[in-house]
Order: sequence, then structure tokens, then C-alpha cells
Amino acid sequence: MSTHVPVMLQEMLASLAPHNGGIYLDATFGGGGYARALLQSAACTVWAIDRDPDAIARGASLAARFPGHLHLIEGRFGDMLSLLPSAGVDRLDGVVLDLGVSSFQLDEPERGFSFRTDGPLDMRMGQHGTTAADLINTLSERDLADLLFQLGEERASRRIARAIVAARKEAPITTTGRLASIIRAVLPPDRSGIDPATRSFQALRIRVNDELSEIEHALAAAAELLAPGGRLVVVAFHSLEDRIVKRFMTEAAGRAPAPSRHDPRGLLTRSRPHFRLLTPRALRPGAVETAANPRARSARLRALERLPAESQPAASPHTESPHSPTAESYPP
Ligand SMILES: C[S@@+](CC[C@H](N)C(=O)[O-])C[C@H]1O[C@@H](n2cnc3c(N)ncnc32)[C@H](O)[C@@H]1O
Repeated sequence: MSTHVPVMLQEMLASLAPHNGGIYLDATFGGGGYARALLQSAACTVWAIDRDPDAIARGASLAARFPGHLHLIEGRFGDMLSLLPSAGVDRLDGVVLDLGVSSFQLDEPERGFSFRTDGPLDMRMGQHGTTAADLINTLSERDLADLLFQLGEERASRRIARAIVAARKEAPITTTGRLASIIRAVLPPDRSGIDPATRSFQALRIRVNDELSEIEHALAAAAELLAPGGRLVVVAFHSLEDRIVKRFMTEAAGRAPAPSRHDPRGLLTRSRPHFRLLTPRALRPGAVETAANPRARSARLRALERLPAESQPAASPHTESPHSPTAESYPP
């Protein structure tokens, strides 16, 4: 049976520092690993969001174990600024985002996320909207190439797009297996051991779920919902996500004077809350964790704290030593 092993769980707990009576948002409930750990570490309340109805349904048993302390909401974390106030919550002591897909989603061929198993070319985390098959079969060759290059950082994007367009003239591409073999025919496996389809599948998944703009909205909203002293912790799994998180947190902490383009509500200029960066460098998982859970290998954790209103942003605070063996500058 599939299961999801939470990534950087101890680092997440240390960074979020849940306390008794606190109210927290787990914005990516998934298999509930983070929510469970929060509920076990303090007498707190956890609101949990996931856009995947299967994740919410699976969470019912955990909610039953913590009656009145775990509340599940099906929705997109980019909408948290409307979802939470509608549920009567307008202040949070902490928000955590563990980005990407869960092992449950990856391991179910019918969800269409995996190039390792054959399934319908879907990739939607929720139940609505455009599927990966819609994109693969309708985008122009040029738009496909741009998508693979921009969201997958795929250098062979033009060759792959050409092969996809040629193949779909024979018959629509409707399965993960067929798409993966089209890509592998263009790009044979190299010595890295990384499947040649990895980057293209990542690009499609990000686009199907509008992942980058979801993150931008969620970061601004989370900062707005945090009570003074509240913390925002984000675990990212690839450079496109992590770049957005790093830039947002750096700007929020007043380290970069440029106005934030990740701030659709004008948060940083309007209410001028003060934040401090808890992780001047992203935290990385330790060797024991990456050996036990390969999914953790690319994880990077960043954290931000909202200061009391009267405080000035601190000059260079950190709770983690920059010389910590798990801290690493990324990207340089
Ligand atoms: C990596 S998993 C989280 C795993 C979780 N921390 C655990 O320990 O079990 C990411 C989850 O976030 C959800 N998700 C991704 N993007 C989302 C979004 N924009 N809104 C809501 N949920 C999202 C996915 O459906 C998935 O279940």
C-alpha cells in the first residue's frame, strides 16, 4: 500500500515551533504527516488545506483522532485568504507548505503523474481544469517547446516538442507511457540515472496545476494571516519553486528594497509588517534522511517569522548556524 514519508519533518517542527493553544495552517495536507506531527507536539489547532479530494477523504481518520483540533478544507492554498476567514480564522501562529505532489498521487497510475507506470495523461491534483493530455494534444509546437524549457528547464525542449507534434498526428497522446517513450526516443538515458522524461513531466505538472502562481499567492496570503511572532515554513523541491520562496522571504525581511512582484495585494508596501528570516540559507535534509527517502534529496526548507508590530527588522538574525552541515546556499 502506498504511503507518504514526510520530508524534513524535524526541521519543519523546529522551524515552526508549535506551542500550546496555537493555531496553525498545514496548507498541503497530503498524507497528513506534518499535521499529525504538529498535533502531537503541542496542544494546538491545525487547519489543513489540500486541493486533492482523495487527500481530504484520507484525512478523516486523523481528524477523528484529534476531535476539534484538526479541520480539513478542500481547496487551493492560493485561496487561503478567502478559505480561512470563511471558516472563521483570520490569524495564524504558523503556516507550513510542503510543495509538490504526494507519494499517494505519484504512486497511483490513474492520476497520471508518473512516467514509471502507465496511466491516463492527467496530472491534475484537483478534479477540475485542463489535463496534461489537453496540453500535449493542443498546444502549438512552439508553445510546447516554451513550456518544457521554462517550467522543466529542458534543454532539448525543441526536439521533444517536434517529436510530440509528429506523434500526435498519428494518434492523440493519451497515456503517460506513450509520452514517456516519445521523450526517451529523443533523449536516451544518460549516466546521471535521471529518467529523460523527468523534466518534461515536471513542466506539464506545474502548468496543469498552475503551481508557481499558486505559490506566489499563498506566500503573500500567509504573511498577511500570520500573527506577530507567527512563522511561515516552506519546503520546496525544485529551483523554480525555491527561487520564488527565497525571493519572497528575502524581500519580506527587508533585505531587498525592490518592490515584490510576488505580492499581488501590495502586502509588503501597504501594511509594512516586519519579518525576519530564520534561514539565511536554505536548510537541507541530512544524509540519513536522503539515504532512507530519495524524495527528500532535492528538498530545501526556508522559514520566516513575523515580528511584533513595534519591532524593527533585525539586521542578521538566524536560528540556524550558517555553518550548520545541513545549511547550503541555493542557488548560489
Ligand atoms: C508533498 S505533499 C504534502 C505531504 C504532507 N506534508 C505530508 O506530510 O503528508 C503536497 C500536497 O499538497 C497538495 N497541493 C499541492 N498544491 C496545492 C495547492 N495549490 N492547493 C492545495 N493543495 C495543494 C497536493 O495535492 C499534495 O497532497
